[in-house]
This record gives sequence, C-alpha cells and structure tokens, in this order.
Amino acid sequence: MEKYLINPNQKISKINKEIYGHFSEHLGRCIYEGLYVGEDSPIPNVNGMRKDVVDALKEMGIPVLRWPGGCFADEYHWKDGIGPKESRKKMINTHWGGVVEDNSFGTHEFFELCRQLGCDAYINGNLGSGTVQEMSEWIEYMTFDGVSPMAELRKANGQEKPWTVKYFGVGNENWGCGGHMHPEFYADQYRRYETYVRNYNGNIPIYRIACGANVDDYNWTDVLMKKAASRMNGLSLHYYTVPGEWGKKGKALEFTKDEYYTTIEKAYRMEELVSRHGDIMNRYDPKKRVGMIVDEWGTWYDVEEGTNPGFLYQQNTMRDAIVAGLTLNIFNKHSDRIRMANIAQTINVLQAVALTDGEDMLLTPTYHIFKMYKDHQENTLLGSYITTPDLSEKGTLPKLIESASIKEDGTIIATIVNTSADDSAEIHCQIADFTLKNLSAEILTGEMHDYNSFGNKNVVGTKVFSDFELLKDGFKTTVPPCSVVKFVIK
Ligand code: AHR
Repeated sequence: MEKYLINPNQKISKINKEIYGHFSEHLGRCIYEGLYVGEDSPIPNVNGMRKDVVDALKEMGIPVLRWPGGCFADEYHWKDGIGPKESRKKMINTHWGGVVEDNSFGTHEFFELCRQLGCDAYINGNLGSGTVQEMSEWIEYMTFDGVSPMAELRKANGQEKPWTVKYFGVGNENWGCGGHMHPEFYADQYRRYETYVRNYNGNIPIYRIACGANVDDYNWTDVLMKKAASRMNGLSLHYYTVPGEWGKKGKALEFTKDEYYTTIEKAYRMEELVSRHGDIMNRYDPKKRVGMIVDEWGTWYDVEEGTNPGFLYQQNTMRDAIVAGLTLNIFNKHSDRIRMANIAQTINVLQAVALTDGEDMLLTPTYHIFKMYKDHQENTLLGSYITTPDLSEKGTLPKLIESASIKEDGTIIATIVNTSADDSAEIHCQIADFTLKNLSAEILTGEMHDYNSFGNKNVVGTKVFSDFELLKDGFKTTVPPCSVVKFVIK
C-alpha cells in the first residue's frame, strides 16, 4: 500500500492558468484547416474560425495561445498578413512542407481567434530574420491607442481599438532555426530588440520572454540569466519527448511495451530539466521574478503514413495521456518558477488535443487530460508526497506521479498518474488537519495503445471513478494501470 500525504497547511505557489497553455504554428494543418477555414468554408465557422474546434478548446479551458511559431516566427513578416486578403503576399513555408502560405491568417485573425476562445495572446516576434524596426512597429500596430503611423494603419484595416498583447517572445529557438546564434550574441540581440518592445498600454505591461535553452543546454540558461535577466520577465525552455532517435522517432500507434516505458521515462526527464535550469535561474534570481516558460513540449513521433513529412501529423494514444498527465503534475509542482507552458501543437500537429478530417473532428486522450486538469488552474499548490516504486531500477521512472492544489473555497484537487502498463496501485491518502466530508473522482484509463479514431471517437474518454473508501482524514483507493485519476476532496 503506497502512502499519499497532502498538507493543506503548506501552501507553496499559485498554479498560473497559463501552465495549461497551447501553441499554434503555421505548420501543416494546425492553423489552416485546424483552427481557421475561412469565412466562405462549408465547415461551420464564425468569422472563419472552426466552430467545433473553438467550442472544444473553450470547454477544455484554454488560457493562452502562442502564435505564429515556432521556427515559422523567425521567418514571419507581419505586414504580409494584414490588409485585404486578396492582396496579401504569398510565400513558401520553407520549414514546414514547402507549401504556399497565403497569409490569410494574420494578426487580425489571430486576435479574433483569441477573442472567440476567451484566451490571452502570446505573440512570438521575429528576431532571426526581421529588423528591430519591424518588431517595434508590430508592437505599435497591435497595442498603441493614439495617433501614430501604425495605429492609423490598424484602424484603416478595421480595428479601431488596440488589442492586449499579454506575452511577447523575442525570437524562437535562436540557437537553431532562429539564426544559429551563440548565447552571448543572442543575449545582446535580445537586449537590443527588447528595448523597442514598448509598453504603450501602461496598465498591462507586456511580459517579455527571451528565447531559452534547448533541452539540457544549461550554459544557454546561465549566459542569458547573467547577461539579460534584468530585461526579461520570462525565459523559455523547449523539450520534446522523442521515444527513438531524431531520424527514427517511433510510431504513434504501434509501439512495444519497452517503447512505452522509454517514452514515459523520457517524458519524466522534464523533472530533471526544470529542476536544473531552475537551479541556474535561482543563482541569478533567487526571488524567482523571472518565469520559466516551457513554451514547447510534448511527444514527437514519425508522421502518420501517407501524410506530408513536413506537416508533423501524428495520432495520440493513452501513452500520450500519461505523458500529458505526468508533465502537468511536474509543472504544477514547479509552479513557483514555471509561469507558463504551451503544448505543441493545438490541432493536427504533434501532441494535439484535437484532430480534424474535413468537417469531422475528434478529441484525443491528451484533450481529456487538459480538460480534467483545468480544475488546478489558478489554485494554490499544496505540499504533497507519494511513496512509489521505480519501474526503471535507476530512479528515473516512478510508477506514481502526483500533484495537489487547493481552491479558494478549500476544495482540494489531487491528480495521480499510474504509469505502469500492467499493475494497479493501492494508495492510502491522508490529509493533514482535515475532516473529509465529500470525495468524488474522475478517471482516464485504458490499454496503452487505445486511441480515438474517426471511425470510433469515443474509445478513450473520462469516466466517473468510485473505487475508493472514505476515511476520516483521507481515503483508500486502487488506481488501475495506465491511468490518470483526479480526486476532488471537500
Ligand atoms: O513544434 C515544431 C517545431 O519544433 C517548432 O517550430 C520549433 O520551435 C521546434 O523545433
């Protein structure tokens, strides 16, 4: 019997809703087809945005959306995506499949999408191939409420009032696709570009995010913190879970049990990465003013057979649900430093929450995890601890991974992931100084290969869970293998 201890007296940090954020790039069928079909499409839409997808994302509680990339961001010239659609420039999307980008989805469309979703905007600027002036003018175009060339241009394009840009990224992966820079060079470039990201709206200052490290490039974090921490609000981190090697990543639907465990173990590496990058940030910023922004994470497999290799379209199984559940628990646990995270990518790309096929749409197991976990958003993280066997014999693959938070009204939310493919877990939960009055629970479970297809969209979905016994100060429960359970404790 494992012991699970929750301490409501130990209130640690706020779990920002932005930890449950998403990322959408001009890549494959994420923006076009996935989110935006155009006003004239036979697919039901509101101002060009797919109604089914928007409704599903709202229901899931999407708090923030990052756009337009990714690698695409450092090749994106925002002026190509404004004004009458018929006269917008066409370009080749060189990173992603060499397809024609007609720029019909641009700044105005993105803010319309955020309006419909009721979420905040996280815009990623172009530092790699754009100029300081271009970035500065984009900020002026989006946020200046007065007389200026860019504000006039925005008004001429039909938007009288400025929008709110809550988050702004100054370049993306500038150690790679965003210019192959050294950290010292990027740090100076960051300082220069950031200077002209003006706060035109004094009431809502823009939260500036510097490009952070790739995986375990700790030197990048060290240099950026040393040279530029005082000029940033957030520093990003990118880490993808790739079961195989980059040339042969492994398939989304067909995998062995060993490959399942390798995937889970690699996903759990997030714990080490955020801890070690966090330790470096602590050296320069012990008060944790600068947020860690994990703005790209998720599984990355070989594309589905017969699809464009540049479109990164992959299916999604219970294995992905386990990855999502454990990763979100890690983020909750580090919410004293992690202020935002954005899974890659919202629709039809990588670890998507929904897939579309023409006018059809399905919700993936990952979607159900986000919807289940939305109860953690804006809560306070509690001290909690679970005993667990390690499935790797190296201490790198715990069977059980949890987090617990408390709402303002005193309701405790606890989410537990059982990563074992075969074994259930008996757990005795004790809550300090607490008299339990009511307990309810929800579960997402299945065989590790289970997934939702267009032929059968309801193979994986959440269910009420009642395999528990109430105690005075907690409960006993048996969590089935390959499952994620949420307990709502009153
Ligand atoms: O999400 C796909 C790509 O992965 C992004 O464009 C890039 O930032 C990262 O390498």
